[in-house]
Amino acid sequence: MKLGTCYYPEHWPESCWAEDARRMAANGLKQVRIGEFAWSRIEPESGRMDWGWLDRAIDTLHAAGLEVILGTPTATPPKWLIDTMPDMIAIDEQGRPRGFGSRRHYCFSHAGYRTEAARITRAVAQRYGRHPAVVAWQTDNEYGCHDTVLSYSAAARLAFREWLAARYGSVDALNRAWGNVFWSMEYRSFAEIDLPNLTVTEANPAHWLAFRRFASDEVVAFNRIQVDILRELSPGRDVVHNYMGFFTEFDHHAVARDLDVVGWDSYPLGFLDSFPFAEADKLAYARQGHPDIAAFHHDLYRGCTATGRWSVLEQQPGPVNWARYNPAPLPGMVRLWTLEAMAHGAELVSYFRWRQFPQAQEQHHAGLLRPDSEPAPGLAEAAQSARDIALLGAAGAAPRQVALVFAYDADWVTKIQPQGAGLSALWASFACYSALRRLGLSIDIIPPGAPLDGYAMVVLPCLPIVPDALVEQLERFAGQIVIGPRSGSRDADFAIPEGLPPGPLQTLFPGKVVRVESLRPGLIHPGAGWEIAHWREDLETSSQLEICAEDGTPACWKHGQTRYLAAWPEPSLAAEVLRRAAGDAGLALHALPEGLRLRRAGNRIFAFNYAAQHTELPPSIQGSLVLGERRLPPAGVTVLED
Ligand code: GAL
Repeated sequence: MKLGTCYYPEHWPESCWAEDARRMAANGLKQVRIGEFAWSRIEPESGRMDWGWLDRAIDTLHAAGLEVILGTPTATPPKWLIDTMPDMIAIDEQGRPRGFGSRRHYCFSHAGYRTEAARITRAVAQRYGRHPAVVAWQTDNEYGCHDTVLSYSAAARLAFREWLAARYGSVDALNRAWGNVFWSMEYRSFAEIDLPNLTVTEANPAHWLAFRRFASDEVVAFNRIQVDILRELSPGRDVVHNYMGFFTEFDHHAVARDLDVVGWDSYPLGFLDSFPFAEADKLAYARQGHPDIAAFHHDLYRGCTATGRWSVLEQQPGPVNWARYNPAPLPGMVRLWTLEAMAHGAELVSYFRWRQFPQAQEQHHAGLLRPDSEPAPGLAEAAQSARDIALLGAAGAAPRQVALVFAYDADWVTKIQPQGAGLSALWASFACYSALRRLGLSIDIIPPGAPLDGYAMVVLPCLPIVPDALVEQLERFAGQIVIGPRSGSRDADFAIPEGLPPGPLQTLFPGKVVRVESLRPGLIHPGAGWEIAHWREDLETSSQLEICAEDGTPACWKHGQTRYLAAWPEPSLAAEVLRRAAGDAGLALHALPEGLRLRRAGNRIFAFNYAAQHTELPPSIQGSLVLGERRLPPAGVTVLED
């Protein structure tokens, strides 16, 4: 694994570039990610290119022995471009334009902007596609950041109608599939169909699902235009994109089919407030981030490409500026996050950013350097990580133990129709992941249809739409299967399946979900050390009741190798069910102290202490010490070898 940093030469006087590059290399950094917001400097006016500064910046980095990841600048179209076609601006759900003055102010469906994005990509790729320093390209920056996947523009409306015509063939078929007879919502032609915003009350969930699918396809198409140009003009270089955390607005599996390496931007402290963590956890992990945030995304994004190649393209190096609260990481956390990425198989961890910028929107966002160029605390940890990586050498692969199936349309279905506030497939998936990781297991998060060979256990935390191919795979699967709530509960057009949920999964599990209910906070059914909370389902089933609450409310049913979890995978209940399944799967389990997490990599075990106190490795974890001690300090990392 290499280390790198995100650098903005356009922010700094040219006189400091060479010294910056020298210090990067001296601190063990090998790659520099540049250029993704520099359109106004590359092309100050329509058609007038200014390459000189970027030529010199890339040459300076190259001369210091650094490799370059060059971004296409399409996340920040300059003012002159907006002025030539003002309707390229995205429109928000309330119908308001998302104006110039920050970034990502474009609509994915605007044909004119697509042409412009292709033009600037071609220009940059022609100039640097064969430059010896350029080893990879990043397309755009964080598709969807600042809530920008869905645009309610005229361009989107037209493109949506075409997309619907291609998908449904006839408007009658669409009316039937969506159930438009309800509330007299029937259409007479595709040209009558609007976007699902600005309706009096909620629009038809089938309408929303179609719109989300369409919008996701628009991201795929927008990205592919750039990928095709980069492949043509820059052979042999990787094409990457930087995904975000806890973000599901487009189908990341689909975009990844066009990428060589999936990147993601890891801000474990910032993400504490982007997810329904318990208040006590937010406090306990305020300076570390919840112990499963980074690992969850490492394992999710590794599963997005068939090759499993992935990187951290932005790593938090200190306090950020954009979360509700922005504490500094506990000393040692920047190194811990870096080595956790290594243990999960990352190719690169790139710290965002090299130097804190004293102007504009991110003034309080730490860099590896302070604005006065003195080292910030993150720099020493990056340099230490580089030494650790050199000592450890390549990290081996993890054994195949648990496959957790996640689909982006699952999250769309649950967000469109949560039924209980905030309940989402992503939440359910994270809860199951976290429970499995607390048992010391290795987890791969995979899309439906990815191979299941070699796994001892498959978990579907919440998968409303189940493709036939997955059902066939599960029918052949010999290990343990856990099916979570809402799975198999909708067809591809958002209708409840004819034979009731879990629909196609009934070939594995003989039962019908006859009623669901969501539960307000505090309305719980306590069990032995766990509880039913948030959501529960009534079943008619010939399977065996395995776990029920003290008042007899069923929580989990079992039929042969398959369990059906008839309640929300609230952490304590998820732990109870998954521990039983993992035990039946013959997996070796660990009882890990709070805050301790493990990751197997080849013949090594990495142990990470996310707690703010010292902790001890339990006796079940054996091996000779390669790094660290059996007693881990806060933010400590220990590596053992068989
Ligand atoms: C990311 C983004 C970066 C920077 C960073 C700040 O979302 O890609 O450009 O804004 O956040 O944490």
